[in-house]
Amino acid sequence: MIAIIGSGRVGTSIALQLISRELDDIILVDIVKGLPQGEALDLGHTASEMGSDVSVKGSNDHADIKGAQIVIVTAGLARKPGMSRLDLAIKNAEIIKPISLEMKRYAPNSKILMVTNPLDAMTYVAFRTTGFPRNRVFGMGGMLDLSRLKYALALKLGISRASIRALVIGEHGDNMVPLARYASVGGIPITSLLSKNDLDDAAEDARKIAAEVIALKGATNFAPGNGVAGMVESITRDRKTLVAASTYLEGEYGVKGICIGVPVILGSNGIEKIVEIELNEDEKRRFMEGVRVLKEAVSSIPL
Ligand code: NAI
Repeated sequence: MIAIIGSGRVGTSIALQLISRELDDIILVDIVKGLPQGEALDLGHTASEMGSDVSVKGSNDHADIKGAQIVIVTAGLARKPGMSRLDLAIKNAEIIKPISLEMKRYAPNSKILMVTNPLDAMTYVAFRTTGFPRNRVFGMGGMLDLSRLKYALALKLGISRASIRALVIGEHGDNMVPLARYASVGGIPITSLLSKNDLDDAAEDARKIAAEVIALKGATNFAPGNGVAGMVESITRDRKTLVAASTYLEGEYGVKGICIGVPVILGSNGIEKIVEIELNEDEKRRFMEGVRVLKEAVSSIPL
């Protein structure tokens, strides 16, 4: 069973993506009475029309995550105008801490996939509060950033996004590190197809587009749903896919004591390996700026 805590826009979008991939039965949990039950019925009706046999249930009781192999956490607030990232971190930590204790109590062997923002700080809160080993607590941010980078690169190249392989690491936020120079197109290094200016432009587009989507529709939900479902599929099918995920570092990339996005191998044991790659000076500078921001954030959150 896969549990999704938080049945709002992102939680339900993840559920829909999981239904279409038929990975496992789903339970949606929310504190709003009736909401997860109503969403579960609506999603269940969609599943029946899609010919998917997964069962979808809704509950207001966190105890119902019992037995879940994966718990996806989308409960919490999104940043409102005038709210700093740090304000959001402190507010959402107040939601994520009790949820982490419930996950420890009711699903002690589960893998936790954090989605609530600020993503890296909330992954850290769940890691510290549950005390789970680090391979079982990770966050989705880089997959969403990657979908935006691929979108921007495909527009520049005028080719299918399916041909592009790339990675975005670092803080899920202002200091994301789009590794456009590592990208390939059908196996051909992208640096032989696009100029440095075009690559820098695409990276900048990927960085700025989140604010534009939020300004236009108030939130993002479909692309994060897809990013999470891809990670869940890698775990449930033990695919050992190389993806970027936020994870607790113990010296990798010269960093200790925070969670941040890095390339990992994702399989049935969760994070099975952290892959270290060479960063150039510019990438390193941006990555370390993310580390600085995150260290400041986690030191301000009472744990
Ligand atoms: P939303 O407001 O639509 O849904 C959040 C839900 O959480 C609400 O239904 C609320 O009742 C529920 N909730 C609050 N406290 C709870 C608790 N203790 N237990 C169970 N449910 C609880 O918000 P939306 O748009 O779904 O966003 C959710 C979070 O995901 C936000 O923090 C947002 O910033 C983040 N996000 C992260 C992304 C990523 O790439 N990591 C992408 C998009 C959003």
